[in-house]
Amino acid sequence: MALTKMELTPILFLGFILVISVCQTSAQKYPEFEAANDELEDESSLLTYIVHVKKPSLQSKESLHGWYHSLLPSTTITQNQKRIIFSYQNIVDGFAAKLTPEEAMALEEKDEVLSTRPEKILSLHTTHTPSFLGLQQSQELWKGSDLGKGIIIGILDTGIYPSHPSFSDEGMSSPPAKWNGHCEFTGERICNNKIIGARNFIKNSSLPLDDVGHGTHTASTAAGRSVQGANVFGNANGTATGMAPDAHLAIYKVCNINGCTESAILAGMDAAVEDGVDVLSLSLGIPSTPFFEDGIALGAFSAIQKGIFVSCSAGNAGPLYGTLSNEAPWILTVGASTIDRKIEAFAKLGNGAEYIGESVFQPKDFASTLLPLVYAGALNTSDDSILFCGPTSMKNIDVKGKVVLCELGGFVARVAKGQAVKDAGGAAMILMNSENHAFNPIADVHVLPAVHVSFSAGSSIKDYINSTSTPTATILFQGTVIGNPLAPQVASFSSRGPSKASLGILKPDIIGPGLNILASWPVSLDNSTQRFNIISGTSMSCPHLSGIAALLKNSHPDWSPAAIKSAIMTTANKVNLHGKPILDQRLLPADVFATGAGHVNPSKANDPGLVYDIETNDYIPYLCGLNYTDKQVGLILQQEVKCSEVKSIPQAQLNYPSFSIWLGSASQFYRRTLTNVGPVNTTYNVVIDVPLAVGVSVSPSQITFNEVKQKVTYFVGFIPEGKENRGDNMFVQGSIKWVSGKYSVSIPISVVFV
Ligand SMILES: *[C@@H]1O[C@H](CO)[C@@H](O)[C@H](O)[C@H]1NC(C)=O
Ligand SMILES: *[C@@H]1O[C@H](CO)[C@@H](O)[C@H](O)[C@H]1NC(C)=O
Ligand SMILES: *[C@@H]1O[C@H](CO)[C@@H](O)[C@H](O)[C@H]1NC(C)=O
Ligand SMILES: *[C@@H]1O[C@H](CO)[C@@H](O)[C@H](O)[C@H]1NC(C)=O
Ligand SMILES: *[C@@H]1O[C@H](CO)[C@@H](O)[C@H](O)[C@H]1NC(C)=O
Ligand SMILES: *[C@@H]1O[C@H](CO)[C@@H](O)[C@H](O)[C@H]1NC(C)=O
Ligand SMILES: *[C@@H]1O[C@H](CO)[C@@H](O)[C@H](O)[C@H]1NC(C)=O
Repeated sequence: MALTKMELTPILFLGFILVISVCQTSAQKYPEFEAANDELEDESSLLTYIVHVKKPSLQSKESLHGWYHSLLPSTTITQNQKRIIFSYQNIVDGFAAKLTPEEAMALEEKDEVLSTRPEKILSLHTTHTPSFLGLQQSQELWKGSDLGKGIIIGILDTGIYPSHPSFSDEGMSSPPAKWNGHCEFTGERICNNKIIGARNFIKNSSLPLDDVGHGTHTASTAAGRSVQGANVFGNANGTATGMAPDAHLAIYKVCNINGCTESAILAGMDAAVEDGVDVLSLSLGIPSTPFFEDGIALGAFSAIQKGIFVSCSAGNAGPLYGTLSNEAPWILTVGASTIDRKIEAFAKLGNGAEYIGESVFQPKDFASTLLPLVYAGALNTSDDSILFCGPTSMKNIDVKGKVVLCELGGFVARVAKGQAVKDAGGAAMILMNSENHAFNPIADVHVLPAVHVSFSAGSSIKDYINSTSTPTATILFQGTVIGNPLAPQVASFSSRGPSKASLGILKPDIIGPGLNILASWPVSLDNSTQRFNIISGTSMSCPHLSGIAALLKNSHPDWSPAAIKSAIMTTANKVNLHGKPILDQRLLPADVFATGAGHVNPSKANDPGLVYDIETNDYIPYLCGLNYTDKQVGLILQQEVKCSEVKSIPQAQLNYPSFSIWLGSASQFYRRTLTNVGPVNTTYNVVIDVPLAVGVSVSPSQITFNEVKQKVTYFVGFIPEGKENRGDNMFVQGSIKWVSGKYSVSIPISVVFV
């Protein structure tokens, strides 16, 4: 059930993320499983199934395991195999077991069993960012939140490299008394006061040690301590600090280089809930899936019921619409943005033209003299895919001493293209973007002098190659440049809404730093004493938000996960450092399906004035309104639900801090409830910002809050206006803002015309 190379590479070339991809396994596909029992001794004929059962009355772990075991078909019991690989007790009622499709079907017939399904395989979807986000020591949030002291962030990822200086516990307090986890590295209750828990759920591996790097990177982004002089090849040099440097880390290894299994993710979330984490961070996912079949959505629902905040990556399948992962409304869905730091390089051509781009590997000994330039696509006219510089295409090609122009894509990772050029004798590589990814070059740790340039630059370079019989080029390295006024900008790979699993909820929720992020790494890449790496993906933006949520948990221990999310969303920035609307990779204003509420502004999130809160019971009428069956809603709630007895609501009626409206010819009416978390006796006035194509009415238009925690409901109407106002737009966007002297509480709106 491992990810095949073909499934993994398209994800890798978009960024570094592990995004879980669905493994199609079904009884029909494996007719050979109708074999006799004795052939089942071969473990490879068994698939891992997630088995959901009706809530058992038994409580202890041992009795649960025994009861789960008793449900298995008798054929499995006679064999000397460990069929149950995980028993869950906190986040779902059920277990993961190795079964044949026939056994799974037999199991499903039992009264106690709600459903069985083959598990899915998921894929895995920074020093400068604290100051970019306004989190200097002098700032209120870092002070007010004690740098996240006492908060426990659970990281589900590839494990951790615990001896990295980012995980030093110098000066840190011991974990809170509620901590119930343990450290498999030491066999003790804690590893140190920074990494207070580390557990492994990968069957192949004995320790939660990170042999990929991804988990070490994400953990240090969320909660790494300060490390001075952090850099990669001298670039991005500075002090590396996580978002919540004094928060504790609890590590759950649920992925390896092959990806992540759903059964292990459920086991990791199950353990994290029992261990007592406050925030869960998951930089992984599967493409859009109904919530009752999405392990992360299931686990996250139980987590928020216990007050645990869940932050997840949005996925790296952008920039196309409808490409999100982790869409459940009880999850914070985090897209990726650029920061104001570039690791600049230029492609310089023989005609004097220079094109800006990026690369982390900037060798000092590269002479930057003009060399012969070739377009990879012209190297073998009978190979249609050689333009992508894949290792197979380049195998017998000789580009000795030349600069090779390669194109993004073709299921070849960016760094692998450079390796193929290097292996073919190439001196350097110019990597041009695809049209979709446009003006969004990525700084990678290449293996040869290289520069990643925009699509338009690449097209000009192609024209130049055609215009002369002796094209030449070189690469000029510029090092680290801070102060890009276009930042933050939405990263091209960041997955886009609308949400497919729930059209009536606007996703992603927020964007945060995810392009060219420097953070800790198990090994040194440049043979220096520093172990850091610069990588990109929504995997990197998710832990930024997890750390920020930890800060907010510390300063507002009474806020629910929904209140924290609302605070983050209603205070988000809509403009870049230049004060202009946030742009996307085309350098056009990004829409709300790219940005959600906007770019996170941590200090403002600490004092939002008002929040849109949601209690876990509010999700029941919402889930029934999705037309899920009673059984499906029951799987999420872990309790019996009769939707016929619940007054179901349309999705847009959930008290979410945004609106996703699909508007036909009839007007639609909803309500929202605000909770005062700011000063009393404050009056807010509504400011509606929508284009002509849709009318929005809000009533009342003024609200005064006289008490702390006071709740006030307002009503919103969406009224279709004349089609002539729409132009060619399939959808429009806007916002509803409640404004007082100090506060501006803003929620985004998307209206799609249907
Ligand atoms: C487990 O380890 C073996 C041998 O190292 C390897 O071939 C296999 O791919 C691994 N399986 C997983 C799921 O990682
Ligand atoms: C990084 O910055 C520190 C402090 O400014 C300096 O001492 C160090 O030499 C720099 N390292 C590199 C590789 O530039
Ligand atoms: C050119 O491509 C064709 C088709 O893929 C392949 O058979 C041939 O070996 C390639 N030529 C070289 C020199 O690699
Ligand atoms: C370059 O010239 C070749 C041969 O004349 C032509 O096929 C190709 O389309 C040209 N490419 C560009 C980018 O103009
Ligand atoms: C690091 O050192 C090893 C062994 O000396 C060498 O092979 C490798 O090329 C070096 N890597 C870099 C990036 O300098
Ligand atoms: C649920 O079913 C009702 C009645 O058939 C329909 O009006 C509504 O659009 C459906 N909702 C969703 C989310 O499919
Ligand atoms: C708020 O207003 C009420 C009456 O309108 C008043 O009694 C109360 O003292 C005021 N509270 C503050 C903190 O100003």
